[in-house]
Amino acid sequence: MERAPADLAVLGIETSCDETAAAVVRGDRRILSSIVLSQGDLHAIHGGVVPEIAARAHLDHCDAVIRHALDTAGIGLDRIDAIAATIGPGLIGGLLVGAMTGKAIALARGLPFLGMNHLEGHALSARLDPGVAFPYLLLLASGGHCQFLIVDADGRYTRLGTTIDDAAGEAFDKTAKLLGLGYPGGPALERLAARGDPQRFALPRPLLGRPGCDFSFSGLKTAMRLVIDRLGEEVDAARADLAASFQRAVADVIADRTTHAIAATRARGVEPTALVVAGGVAANTEIRDRLAATGAAHGLALRAPPLALCTDNAAMIAWAGIERLRRGERDALDIPARPRWPLDPAAA
Ligand code: KG4
Ligand code: ZN
Repeated sequence: MERAPADLAVLGIETSCDETAAAVVRGDRRILSSIVLSQGDLHAIHGGVVPEIAARAHLDHCDAVIRHALDTAGIGLDRIDAIAATIGPGLIGGLLVGAMTGKAIALARGLPFLGMNHLEGHALSARLDPGVAFPYLLLLASGGHCQFLIVDADGRYTRLGTTIDDAAGEAFDKTAKLLGLGYPGGPALERLAARGDPQRFALPRPLLGRPGCDFSFSGLKTAMRLVIDRLGEEVDAARADLAASFQRAVADVIADRTTHAIAATRARGVEPTALVVAGGVAANTEIRDRLAATGAAHGLALRAPPLALCTDNAAMIAWAGIERLRRGERDALDIPARPRWPLDPAAA
């Protein structure tokens, strides 16, 4: 029996990087469960995500995380209407674990399978808030990506610009490492920056004021390394100021690039309903505040998903699956996992 759209319940599975996650989300936007098992400590001791360790950990825990998500939601697989599992982009070992598990459940239960794009999960996570309507301008800023997309109904994405070197989260992680902070560096660097003087160190703002909507962060990271080398033994006393100065530089660049992206959206004849930010870096308060001010200066409200939905999770995957189901989409069980998969095919 076909269920009404609001009554749909989708099981989401996310294993593209270093969190094993499963969630049950309903068509009426209620998140019945969202379990995120972070492999943080496993990778922290190596200073970054080790793909083989990640794949093994997903394999060890994926079944239990899914079981826990169903138990927490209080429903069995008989009440699930589809399985949505991330099949890309990401680390291939982990993707295979989530994709194969999702396909096996779909096959055994005769359920539709949706092979999900992780970036689409981030892109549509803001729609769990009923106020966010298409089309909107999205800044997706995570550990692996930093890009502006126009998000349209019907699963159409237009990429306006992207990073030409490091992603924003990657810049946070690498700089945190230089400052002797653990992995992932973003949250630790933000905590340190809260006690620092953002104006003490004059760091570069790559691409600031240049035309277009691209980003570059590698020069900023290099400048940080040079300042740290120059400080020598004084670096310890300066760590909070270094963190605050770095964060301010990133926020300045993001604000500038966002102004360009808003103009580029309108130049295409698209009037966005909102400025949306998603991905792990969206958890950063200074960056959120600057985005809110930049949006407001151009007549756009900032919409950011709650923190737990900004970093990797499976509720966003389940929700993106619901949006695809409503469009009548489903995938064949032989759809392959893919390490690279841009949302905008023209931007590949
Ligand atoms: O979206 P996400 O969980 O995973 C990816 O798909 O990459 O993003 C993780 C990234 C990491 O680089 C992490 O350092 C960064 O988001 N991040 C932050 C903050 N929280 C997480 N960066 C800056 N400030 C934060 N508060
Ligand atoms: Zn992500």
